Amino acid sequence: MERKTIETKIEIYSFEELDKSKQELIIKAKEQVFKAYAPYSEFQVGAAIELVNGEIFAGCNQENSAYPSGLCAERVTMFFANAQFPEVAVKTIAIAAYTNGSFLEEPVTPCGSCRQVLLETEVRFGKDITILLYGTKYVFKINNVKQLLPICFEKSSLNG
Ligand code: THU
Repeated sequence: MERKTIETKIEIYSFEELDKSKQELIIKAKEQVFKAYAPYSEFQVGAAIELVNGEIFAGCNQENSAYPSGLCAERVTMFFANAQFPEVAVKTIAIAAYTNGSFLEEPVTPCGSCRQVLLETEVRFGKDITILLYGTKYVFKINNVKQLLPICFEKSSLNG
């Protein structure tokens, strides 16, 4: 028997410590929570994505009375960005969440399905995506999606 330990590297910053472009992307994600359609969970999530060409997209969660038909903010935004610029890699994604009248204190983290979708884009363009997870206490910076989804299933896994 062998044992393997997998490490996830997370950098923890105060909002003020981040450079201006990262702060601006987080501000866009925060603004976006107020456009969320989340009448069922009342958990409003905003995402903002910057492409390597400087284009920025923002989106939010879209819920549905048939619950599983809704979609998280990260996937709404990533699919839209990839649909508009199918040949341009993603540089950074920022995520923020708001519930019970305030932004989360602890950084919000993407669900498993969103991690899988973010991974697809990272692998598709062969370019690491920086992930900024906003909390009012601090911001997590993660340098690529693989950190969030180790031992993953990806395109090359289909080759057997
Ligand atoms: N949600 C997101 O949009 N992103 C996340 O990272 C976590 C969860 C949404 C899905 C659903 O509309 C609501 O938040 C509660 O789960």
